[in-house]
Amino acid sequence: MPFNIRNRNLLSLVHHSERDLIYLLNLSRDLKRAKYSGAVRHSLAGKNIALIFEKTSTRTRCAFEVAAYDEGAHVTYIDPTSSQIGHKESMKDTARVLGRMYDAIEYRGFGQDVVDELAKYAGVPVFNGLTDEYHPTQMLADVLTMTEHCSKPMHEISYAYVGDGRNNMANSLLLVGAKLGMNVRIGAPKHLWPEPEHIAMCESFAKDSGALLLITDDPQEAVKGVDFIHTDVWVSMGEPIEAWGQRIDELMPFQVNAALMAASGNPRVRFMHCLPAFHNSETKVGAQIAAQYPQLSNGIEVTDDVFESPANIAFEQAENRMHTIKAVLVAALA
Ligand code: CP
Ligand code: NVA
Repeated sequence: MPFNIRNRNLLSLVHHSERDLIYLLNLSRDLKRAKYSGAVRHSLAGKNIALIFEKTSTRTRCAFEVAAYDEGAHVTYIDPTSSQIGHKESMKDTARVLGRMYDAIEYRGFGQDVVDELAKYAGVPVFNGLTDEYHPTQMLADVLTMTEHCSKPMHEISYAYVGDGRNNMANSLLLVGAKLGMNVRIGAPKHLWPEPEHIAMCESFAKDSGALLLITDDPQEAVKGVDFIHTDVWVSMGEPIEAWGQRIDELMPFQVNAALMAASGNPRVRFMHCLPAFHNSETKVGAQIAAQYPQLSNGIEVTDDVFESPANIAFEQAENRMHTIKAVLVAALA
């Protein structure tokens, strides 16, 4: 085990080495096999984990809960409305309270500074379950899924992310690929590119890892020759509803549809999405958007034909959230 994995925070991946990440990915594979073969050990028996969610969630919450229960730990779910956090109590004070009761804390919320503050004062490991800037637990699942669906060595795997290039998913996919020496492309209109400081940091990691990074405003160039095409919602949690109109106009050329999949030139290209996805108009938001923009009734960031095709591996990616989060918990606390 890398010396510094036990009791370790997972805040962004910025401070994890390539070796730390490989260790967590290998442990995820071991724990996945153990679950499939009925050989789960209760290595977290007696541990208590607080799950703070200031934004809604399906996968992250369920993944943390099932992973903890499988390993014998207990969790407390704190929803966006039922605690004192923020309105009556600062994060610094919350951290100092929860740190005395729990062995670890998961936090999903807004600014990265909030999770950093929590980690600074909690005295127990803190895991970022999504902030505006980063989604690190999702990255372990995404890389595990890519390695399961591609026979190439990690350093030869290439992937594109197209869409809102400065959200938590884009930042994190650029970062994790830079750390692991992969071939990463971000396809987005120029003003939706990641912050220049983030790009510079990822480029410095890429120098050491041998990663190839490309940021482009040409969607076809982004996907050319890749093994995987990722996308995400065009408007993230916490952004104003009014952002949709402009985002739709700007991001239409980056929609993942059959033509963009074909532009990869790779008949084996796979589609990935952290989910939830707007791939039809069967959700409330999907229906509202379709009423205003009928051309999007068969999907917004991804069309329904791509989403429902065998190329879509997003549900395996979703399952891997649980195995990889379990690895994070076991590595830190077992
Ligand atoms: N991918 C992801 O984080 O999903 P949830 O918002 O449902 O947790
Ligand atoms: N970028 C999305 C990811 C959801 C898992 C959001 O932050 O809403």
